[in-house]
Amino acid sequence: MAPNQGAGEVVLRATGISKGFPGVKALTDVDLEVRRGEVVALLGENGAGKSTLIKILSGVYSLDKGEIELEGKRVKFDLPSEAKAAGIGIIHQELNYVATVSVAENIYMGDIPKKGLVIDYRRMYRGAREIMAKIGVDIDPKMPIGRCTVAQKQLIEIAKVIANDVKVLIMDEPTSALNDVETENLFRFIGQAKSMGIAIIYISHKLDEIFRIADRVVVLRDGCVTGRLDAKTATREALIRTMVGRDLTDMYPKTPGAPKGVAIEVRDLTNDALFGVSFAARKGEIFGVYGLLGSGHQDLGAAIFGQTIVRSGEIWIDGKRVKINDPLDALKNGVAYVPAERKTEGLVLNNTVRVNMLSAFYAKNSRRRFTNKRFEAGITDKWIKNLSIKTPSGETRVESLSGGNQQKVVLSKCLELEPEVMILNEPTRGIDVGAKAEIYRILDDLCRKGKCVIMITSEMPELLTMSDRIMVMHAGRIGGFLEARGATQEDVLKYAIGG
Ligand SMILES: Nc1ncnc2c1ncn2[C@@H]1O[C@H](COP(=O)(O)OP(=O)(O)OP(=O)(O)O)[C@@H](O)[C@H]1O
Ligand SMILES: [Mg+2]
Repeated sequence: MAPNQGAGEVVLRATGISKGFPGVKALTDVDLEVRRGEVVALLGENGAGKSTLIKILSGVYSLDKGEIELEGKRVKFDLPSEAKAAGIGIIHQELNYVATVSVAENIYMGDIPKKGLVIDYRRMYRGAREIMAKIGVDIDPKMPIGRCTVAQKQLIEIAKVIANDVKVLIMDEPTSALNDVETENLFRFIGQAKSMGIAIIYISHKLDEIFRIADRVVVLRDGCVTGRLDAKTATREALIRTMVGRDLTDMYPKTPGAPKGVAIEVRDLTNDALFGVSFAARKGEIFGVYGLLGSGHQDLGAAIFGQTIVRSGEIWIDGKRVKINDPLDALKNGVAYVPAERKTEGLVLNNTVRVNMLSAFYAKNSRRRFTNKRFEAGITDKWIKNLSIKTPSGETRVESLSGGNQQKVVLSKCLELEPEVMILNEPTRGIDVGAKAEIYRILDDLCRKGKCVIMITSEMPELLTMSDRIMVMHAGRIGGFLEARGATQEDVLKYAIGG
């Protein structure tokens, strides 16, 4: 491997790492090293083995074969706490938190400032604020974490790790729930961490980020290293080819919408986070929704879908006023919703891929009491194939799938319904580039069939290229509407900051 100019000595070195799960060879003979002040990006398709590798480095999983050295000394972590004590900080892909305790307590988890035997609340809240400020975050430290948005939880997770002194900082898709502004703040922090000599391992499916912050890229495919590239000279095409094994020609297959009439109209929707939101989305269009942290865009989907309590407002579907009191009402009225937080809202983790995929179908078609193995297997296999879901079979439990593959299961569950109105909250969060293109194709298809797609997203390229129209939210209200054609990032952000 070419020596990295400017980077310091090797901090963490993993050699010959292999790991298997029942029916899956997750990693085969993987070598990885990271130096002081260096950002190594770990790249690969959903299920390639990225999370497994860093879970081994941080004591979550044991390894079958291989060695790990930290600052030249052989180490073996049997528990995450041992890795943490040795200076390895990790931000996992799946968020871990106790919903009822405060933001500050989450940040100080296990290490709460005390005065004698009692908690020193003042010091804890002040400390939490200071730590969050390092990454440009301002969240009330007293707020119960269950009330935070996904993005806020992600930021708190980051704060939690940097509250400790770390030698190695590992981040597994830290920006998957963050918007551009929050991402910039995180990058600024990563820059500081680099200059402090911290070694960083960074996993992301967003290639732009890789080019922005990585020094080197290590690509995994089916558990093996398929490439080591210099981030300064590698091209986007080269990265994709090494990752997917082929070229990807059409990332955003958008046919211009030919909207026919209003599919859903929302009038004056009001709850704790939304204040008189009104809009109409049409049949045959992708209606993009964007907002910054706390703008209410994250609450919109659940409110329409009847998942959260609405104080006032009306929903009209196909010209008729409908009452949606719960998700079942929504499904029966042809509205489906893909939530952003799949682990708690979208999936029953200890159920199989098949049961999860069919759950919404059976909920909607409650009269269909008989089950037919052939019919179910047909649907399951179709989506495993269409979305290239990496799973040993349809009978595998969802919890053992990689993050991106879990997201694909949530999506297929709603896609199977072919709803008249499909609301998606961060549809491609954690999805690799190849599967992303596939999902865009499916959404485009839905539109051409005259369905209405409401796409809530923080990903600017996706918003600008896949939408027909864009609604930008600000402080729980509508900041503005845009035709997506010709709209720029600046146009969107202007409305998002309330300008
Ligand atoms: N606890 C587990 N039990 C069984 N199989 C597992 C477990 N964890 C991971 N796997 C399998 O190991 C493989 C690698 O998964 P991993 O989570 O490392 O992928 P990843 O590269 O992080 O993907 P993603 O981009 O989707 O997060 C997958 O086939 C996955 O199904
Ligand atoms: Mg992963």
